[in-house]
Amino acid sequence: MSISSNNPLREELLSRQVAKPCSMVIFGATGDLTHRKLIPALYNLAADNDLPPGLKVTGFARREKNDLSWRNELEESNRKNSRSGHDPETWKNFAASISYHQGDLNDTEAYHDLAKHLDSIDDASTTQHNRLFYLSTAPEFFPVVLENLKAAGLNQSRNGGWSRVIIEKPLGSDLSTAQELNRVLSNTFNEDDTYRIDHYLGKETAQNIMILRFANAIFEPLWRSRFIEQVQITCAEDLGMEGGRGGYYDTAGATRDMVQNHLMQLLCLIAMEPPTDLSADSVRDEKVKVLRSLRRMGPDEVKRNVVRAQYTSGEINGQPLPGYLQEERITENSRTESYVAMRVFIDNWRWEGTPFYIRMGKRLPKKATEISLHLKRPPNVLFQKLPSIDGSNVLTMRIQPDEGVSVRMLSKLPGNDLKIEPVKMDFHYLSSFGKGSPEAYERLLLDAMAGDATLFARRDEVENAWLFIDAIQNAWHDNDNPPAMAEYPAGSWGPVEADQLLGERGHKWREI
Ligand SMILES: NC(=O)c1ccc[n+]([C@@H]2O[C@H](COP(=O)([O-])OP(=O)(O)OC[C@H]3O[C@@H](n4cnc5c(N)ncnc54)[C@H](OP(=O)(O)O)[C@@H]3O)[C@@H](O)[C@H]2O)c1
Repeated sequence: MSISSNNPLREELLSRQVAKPCSMVIFGATGDLTHRKLIPALYNLAADNDLPPGLKVTGFARREKNDLSWRNELEESNRKNSRSGHDPETWKNFAASISYHQGDLNDTEAYHDLAKHLDSIDDASTTQHNRLFYLSTAPEFFPVVLENLKAAGLNQSRNGGWSRVIIEKPLGSDLSTAQELNRVLSNTFNEDDTYRIDHYLGKETAQNIMILRFANAIFEPLWRSRFIEQVQITCAEDLGMEGGRGGYYDTAGATRDMVQNHLMQLLCLIAMEPPTDLSADSVRDEKVKVLRSLRRMGPDEVKRNVVRAQYTSGEINGQPLPGYLQEERITENSRTESYVAMRVFIDNWRWEGTPFYIRMGKRLPKKATEISLHLKRPPNVLFQKLPSIDGSNVLTMRIQPDEGVSVRMLSKLPGNDLKIEPVKMDFHYLSSFGKGSPEAYERLLLDAMAGDATLFARRDEVENAWLFIDAIQNAWHDNDNPPAMAEYPAGSWGPVEADQLLGERGHKWREI
């Protein structure tokens, strides 16, 4: 798939801003995200010569370490987690830019020391007083880190440099906590310097949605309720609560953990109007309009349109698995959903009447995230005497794994008889471009260094998404008349109630 050289979209895509040299500070330097995602992403950018020259990385955490011991620890985890393998020479060059700064997030003095450390880096290298702070800590620390950065003057740009912050999910647990976090953020950093990361937006196929929609005449005219019968967004995980996930998950659940952020972002990309240009605010303006057009649900609508469920014991690949309530660190009689399916409507001109089905579940048979658009059928006058088959055209975008796009259509079966079969046109990133996609964090870190916030969530996106989700959560927490909690065996595709939700309109979940 290529975009013609005189296409204005191409010009904009190619004119991406360039990542600038800077000091990147990772708060939570000894944590899981740093080891599994952030450092491998930086290493791979270094291996591809994509890092800005002169980048310096400083880790901040409580544990006693020095530059060398932290580098050694990171090298070990990079060997396991780097997507392109580990080359000792490339690592050695990259690791020379890494230092460790021990400190407690609650200790204001530690930030003054950090400021001195960063000043000394600026004096000795080419970081040009540019600073990028990555908050890879538990969310309860976000406010204290932000306030301490401000107290040490680290939120201010100085000597012509810039100061930016990247903040991880969860961005609040409901609208009011998200607003409170945004209030602290806006007291510390300008919105333009605030990068709320949603790693789904860094995935190639998520970025490809706009290209697919707006650069292809074959799809663009069909992308509306007149031609689209229904849209499905599925995020399936085979994992359950192993590895200590239980504690946090039980306070969040599938809807807060995945739907409010990642799946709402995918919904926006699928449903939004074409932006006036590809600038961060033009794209985000259109996404916010989608969120504002979501039909809000009262308690009765939640009962009719949303199914929540917990897995019971079952098996995946022959391995027996406990039910959600038997998992470690899950509270007794927990009412947290490990699965949610919902029917959502976007009340705007383009999508009037088209149901968007969203589902997310733990302990489903496999890990897969995909979006499918199911087109309306043409009039069935010519082939009505043939055995009936499911004849709808389906456009599927696979977000992970095996990123790609496929189109299902009907074709004549070769031979003398008139027989019709569905066939699939399939595009895989790996086979079409000869290489896999970069990890989402690679693209996003580079964008933050370049000052391009297009693939990051803006304040009003986060708050509008919470407004929609809060209505569902409120209905679930109605003590007098809460909606039922359905069940599904671990290793199945979810509860029958979710199949019935689609069955009401003659629809079925796409088989993945
Ligand atoms: N892990 C993932 O895959 C993932 C995915 C998406 C989002 N996230 C988000 O990313 C953030 C980090 O997650 P994580 O899994 O990496 O967490 P984690 O493994 O628990 O790491 C937490 C980090 O915070 C540091 N820390 C804790 N208390 C501290 C204190 N008082 N002073 C200084 N440092 C302190 C810890 O280091 P010391 O103990 O050495 O101080 C550690 O480096 C969270 O917001 C999480 O929700 C994580």
